[in-house]
Parts: sequence; C-alpha cells; structure tokens
Amino acid sequence: MSDAKEYSCVKLEIDDEGIAWVSFNRPEKRNAMSPTLHFEMEDVMAELETNEDAKVIVLTGEGVSWSAGMDLKEYFRETDNNPKARFKSQWAHRHWAQYLMVSAKPSIAMVNGYCFGGAFTPLAACDIAIAAEDATFGLSEVNWGILPGGNVSKVFRDLASHRDSLFYAMTGRTFDGKKAVDMGIVNLAVPADKLREETLALARELLEKSPAVLAFTKQAVKAVQGMDMNMAYEYLGAKQGALRAADKEGTRQKGMSEFLDNKSYRPGLGAVKRD
Ligand code: COA
Repeated sequence: MSDAKEYSCVKLEIDDEGIAWVSFNRPEKRNAMSPTLHFEMEDVMAELETNEDAKVIVLTGEGVSWSAGMDLKEYFRETDNNPKARFKSQWAHRHWAQYLMVSAKPSIAMVNGYCFGGAFTPLAACDIAIAAEDATFGLSEVNWGILPGGNVSKVFRDLASHRDSLFYAMTGRTFDGKKAVDMGIVNLAVPADKLREETLALARELLEKSPAVLAFTKQAVKAVQGMDMNMAYEYLGAKQGALRAADKEGTRQKGMSEFLDNKSYRPGLGAVKRD
C-alpha cells in the first residue's frame, strides 16, 4: 500500500494491485464537500490520471457517510457574499467531477452511507456504483430551499426516470441502496459488511482487462449518448480503429488467437489473460 499525498479532506491510497482508494475524509461533517475538499479532489484527479500505479479508482467515504453533499456552511453560507470564492469552489467541483467522468481509468463509487444532494454529481461521474443496502440517498435541496443545482438535476435525470426524478426532487424523500438499484442510480447493493469485499472483487475484475480497451469502451459508451444512429456508427468505427493503435498489449489479436487457435479461453465467459 503506497501512501500518495497528504490531504486534509481527502484520503488517497494506491494499493499494490493498482487500486486507488479515494475517500472523502471529513467524517465528523458526514463528508460534506467544502471548497478545500473540491480543490484537493482536483489535485487527486490529476494525480490519478498521471500516476501509472493507479489502475482502478474507488471513491468512497470515511465513517458512516459517502458524502452529505455540498457543505452548507463552507460552500454556501460562507461564500454567499464572496463571489470570487464561490466561483473558485464551484469550478473546482465542476472540474474534478468532469475529470472523473472522462478519466481514462475505470472508476467505482463505493457508497457506504449517506449520499445527499451535491454528492450525486460525483456518484454519476463514476462508471460503476455499488452501495450498501442500507445506504441512504436523497435530494434534500427542496428541504432547505434550493433546487438541485451543481448539475444534480441533470445527472439524476440522466440516471433515473422522469417520474422518479420529479418525485424525489420534489419530496426530498430518502431511499436505500436496494431502491437505488431499482431506479438505475447504482448497479449493485450488498450488505454493508460485504461492501468492501464486493467492491474489491469488482475492481479485480476490471484489472484483468486491457486498460486501453477499458478506457476506449467507457469513453465510447458515454459519448454515444448524445448521438444519432449515423453519428454513432461513424464515431464507433473511428474509435475502434484508434483503439487498435492505442492498445499496445494487442488484446484483439491475442483474444482471437487464444480463442480460435489455442482454444485457451472463451471470450463470452471472461477476459483473455494479460501478459
Ligand atoms: N453541510 C455542512 N455540514 C454538514 C452537512 C452539510 N451538507 N452534513 C452534515 N454536516 C455537519 C453537521 O452540521 C454536523 O456538524 P457539527 O457537529 O459541527 O454540528 C455534523 O456534520 C454531523 O451532522 P449531524 O446532522 O449531526 O449528523 P447525523 O448523522 O445526525 O445526520 C445527515 C446526517 C447527513 C442526515 C445530516 O447531517 C444532514 O441532513 N445533512 C445535510 C444533508 C444535505 O442536505 N445535503 C445536501 C447539500 S446540497
């Protein structure tokens, strides 16, 4: 386990397998996202993107919370009369969430507890999400007088249905991890005491794949969302060509030869072994 850098609101540890464990680290504030946390997360994302030891990103929270959303005191109240400070933290938040969204590294949100309001933006930016069954989710903005901004309305609506988006945004009702799966907000919900183990298994599954193939796959799936059929055909064709050049491991050739010639594995049932 290598300790990367020291931060005050975030913990970053890259383990020997290449899993970067990133934790929101303000447990006494339920991991509410302060301006400092946003600035540190910008730095964390730059570190992860350029650090070859980091192969899969897991984003979680210390203590009983994943994140209680934006910090009402430090992010909102204390910057109400300081537009420059508000602007800087707003953009830091936007930047790091966007970095996470487009990162070449696969990411998993490991939702261990509370996930409120602004926390949905990083949640949606992660490629895959796994939650404790008893995690608590909610769009609490309506309860304290704002609408779900910071792109929360947008990302929530992209993940969930029209009906659920309006229902939860307008009532502020909470829902648990199992319900989050039904709604398409997370992929899996597991008992809290199995959360880390199941996340580790998922991360190891991703580690078995070629990093280039994974990066291009996630980028392609995200990019086609806003395209029509013709554009998607064109884009995916071009992206496929680019992947063949980018994948230095030659996974495609190897995959075909191991399946067709050596009959060593079945692509339908698992990844071709990497060297
Ligand atoms: N912003 C600022 N501070 C927050 C916070 C937030 N979003 N969420 C929690 N905290 C702080 C509390 O003010 C409290 O600070 P204190 O110890 O200095 O008084 C501390 O974290 C613990 O919170 P508390 O409410 O006592 O914990 P709890 O376990 O009883 O409840 C929550 C947890 C998450 C249900 C509750 O804190 C809450 O509703 N937070 C706000 C959630 C929210 O609306 N987020 C959306 C923001 S866009």
